[in-house]
Amino acid sequence: MDCRIVTIPGDGIGPEIVREACKVLDKTAQVYGHSFQYTEVLMGGCSIDAHGVPLTEEALETARQSDAVLLGAVGGNVGNSRWYDVAPGLRPEAGLLAIRKGLNLFANIRPAYLYQDLAEACPLKKEIIGDGFDMVIMRELTGGLYFGERHTEEVDGVLQATDTLTYNENEIRRIAVKAFDIARKRRKFVISVDKANVLDSSRLWRKVVEEVAKDYPDVRLEHMLVDNCAMQLVMNPGQFDVVLTENMFGDILSDEASMITGSIGMLSSASLNEGKFGMYEPSHGSAPDIAGRDIANPIATILSAAMMLRYSFDLDKEAEAIEKAVRKVLAEGWRTSDIMAEGCKKVGTAQMGDLIAAQI
Ligand code: IPM
Ligand code: MG
Repeated sequence: MDCRIVTIPGDGIGPEIVREACKVLDKTAQVYGHSFQYTEVLMGGCSIDAHGVPLTEEALETARQSDAVLLGAVGGNVGNSRWYDVAPGLRPEAGLLAIRKGLNLFANIRPAYLYQDLAEACPLKKEIIGDGFDMVIMRELTGGLYFGERHTEEVDGVLQATDTLTYNENEIRRIAVKAFDIARKRRKFVISVDKANVLDSSRLWRKVVEEVAKDYPDVRLEHMLVDNCAMQLVMNPGQFDVVLTENMFGDILSDEASMITGSIGMLSSASLNEGKFGMYEPSHGSAPDIAGRDIANPIATILSAAMMLRYSFDLDKEAEAIEKAVRKVLAEGWRTSDIMAEGCKKVGTAQMGDLIAAQI
């Protein structure tokens, strides 16, 4: 299979981790007889430095013409870098929001599961962890507060800022459909998270999700309020299979879910449109404080590349080969510093990539 992949290394540790993911993809292509061609584009702080904007029209168009996008991370230290003293629309993150919207990537899939080999790193008590957990957060990615009208004004001499949260039924329906489709391939249980005791948008969310559920009689549906969900994630994470939620709640809950796996450096994510096109990126950020030191964990990006093979190219066997290689390397005791434990062997970013590629 010939695939044209756009890579967006981005800022901070982005270039280092994308390099390792491409190393693993190249080995996979070699072993399974595929050809992956990469085109690199700029986004985030590096694009601001080069072009004055976080995402150029050409970069977006190049991504649009590709078969899939592999992204590292964008942004510097919030509030403490030259990229933040500018209008919000010109900050590095604006590039990320623009590419999500521009490519219609409304369905964000963030898996969070506990690797038995990393159970020691999980901050929860053993009795809470039980047999571990394996969930997928389905976050709506192109609506809600992130994309609503916003402004700051002075009213009677007092500064006032407004953000608006809007969802229409079509936006809710299409993400719900994706969530139920995925649940069907898993343990057939969707928990839809909202704040229906307060918000109108959540009441509509609940209504539409219930309508969609009628087409999936084999999938169980429950609703949970977002504050309760935040609590349940650390009290009984094993109860979750597919968590379906809107943009802002999903942003917060997916960080919490990743934290209880022990390392945010392990978690991949996929952002999909209606069809097979997607952008794949680690769930973590650009970690500018450790950039360029060969200590970042490339596994989340490598696993994101595996998701790309599965969701965009239907290369299930190849995706499994990468996931298996990661498990093997962990089982052999190799660790980057973020997941280092007693008795294990510490390696840097590039060596972790070599070890995983060697297992394919
Ligand atoms: C994420 C990030 C982004 C978001 C930021 C960088 C804009 O936190 O992908 O979760 O809030 O969506
Ligand atoms: Mg986030």
